[in-house]
Amino acid sequence: MTHLGSTITPSVVPHFPIGATVTQAQLSHDPYAVFQRLRPTEPVTWAPALGQWLVTNRDLAMEVLRDPDRYRTDEETSPIRDTFGPQMLNTEGDVQRRYKLACAPPFNARAVEDSRAMVQGIVDARARALPRAGVVELRTAYAAPIAVSTIARVIGLPEAMDERLRDWYDTFADALVNYARDDATRTRAHAAVLAFRAAIAPRLAAPDAGERTLLASLARAYPRLLDDREIGSNALIVLFGGIETTEALIANALWAILTHPAAHARARASDADLDRCIEESLRWEPAVQTCTRYVPDAALLHGVAIPRGAVVQVMLGAMNRDPAHFANPERFDPWRTESVVHTAFGFGRHFCLGAALARLEARLAIRRLFDDWPALALDDRRSLPPSGHEFRKPGALVVGLG
Ligand code: HEM
Repeated sequence: MTHLGSTITPSVVPHFPIGATVTQAQLSHDPYAVFQRLRPTEPVTWAPALGQWLVTNRDLAMEVLRDPDRYRTDEETSPIRDTFGPQMLNTEGDVQRRYKLACAPPFNARAVEDSRAMVQGIVDARARALPRAGVVELRTAYAAPIAVSTIARVIGLPEAMDERLRDWYDTFADALVNYARDDATRTRAHAAVLAFRAAIAPRLAAPDAGERTLLASLARAYPRLLDDREIGSNALIVLFGGIETTEALIANALWAILTHPAAHARARASDADLDRCIEESLRWEPAVQTCTRYVPDAALLHGVAIPRGAVVQVMLGAMNRDPAHFANPERFDPWRTESVVHTAFGFGRHFCLGAALARLEARLAIRRLFDDWPALALDDRRSLPPSGHEFRKPGALVVGLG
């Protein structure tokens, strides 16, 4: 999900002819074509244009995700750690477990089900704000505000803050790709982090007794599981993790459904089929394309020597279309029968905390659109397909409302 910011070039690198040709633009435009080229002969490759190692075979990628000792996230110099401080996505071992367990209660299946009415309320309000007819760009007008408001309420932040949160998000997003350590970008992000910490301070000092939000439950816990600083850093990663990802999940699922008429018809007719479409869209076009791991000591993967200090990118979109595990992997087929799971939410200790909540948001958001606009259809001419190397989402999801 996040770069660790290190682009150390190994001193002795065997030649990877296909990896040598990979560019950021190709990965952004059509990563799946790149993965098809790499997987058969260079499933572990060095991509000089990115300064990173890419893993595109599902079994090898699993080997990386299952081995947090060798492939780690806790890189001190990473932009994400520099911006938010230590939190669950950039720690390992007991510290990570403590952070994640402390933050887990509002995200477990039961709690998410309990928040259904709250999410439905947000979805309904956003649907009412759309025009009744004409055309609308749904990613920014619908999916994005649903994602922001939902995660803000789960964290325990009031509606009045939603706009500020989006601005902060954009500042953080710039900082997390600031490998060049540009001072102005860092300063802006640190100021936003301080403002966020200041905004939550009163809620931590005097938590509402009846509130089951993330902040209130962490602040009320006795003894405290996390101190104020740790709560702030983990709330920041939860906030960051819940915004663009879920906006992209909703938009990608809609894109997949609206470009496949048979799936569209079935998803409209049945909730179970809508769930299958959302799940298959997670496999077919995952919003988060990479899990980034740092190699503190030289490692051997599939006979390839990965040097100390390297950055390994587990390519989730490649795992999800590995033909050794999925039949006709390039096909969007919500009724496929493989028992193997997709890894759109990652795998292992860093498996996404918000998976159940994100799925619920997508389900309710898409169902509301289908119920309110029976003739809703993609406007091919004005829409732009999913793109992006790390976060992938439609450039524009323009629909006719009928
Ligand atoms: C409510 C929405 C969401 C929230 C609050 C959220 C939050 C988080 C958090 C806190 C983590 C770090 C967990 C850890 O390190 O133990 C995480 C990991 C992850 N999330 Fe989410 N997330 C959300 C939605 C999504 C969506 C929609 C996707 C993709 C479709 C996604 C993909 C991932 C992936 C791939 C990881 C693993 C990163 C890694 O191992 O490097 N998340 N998420």
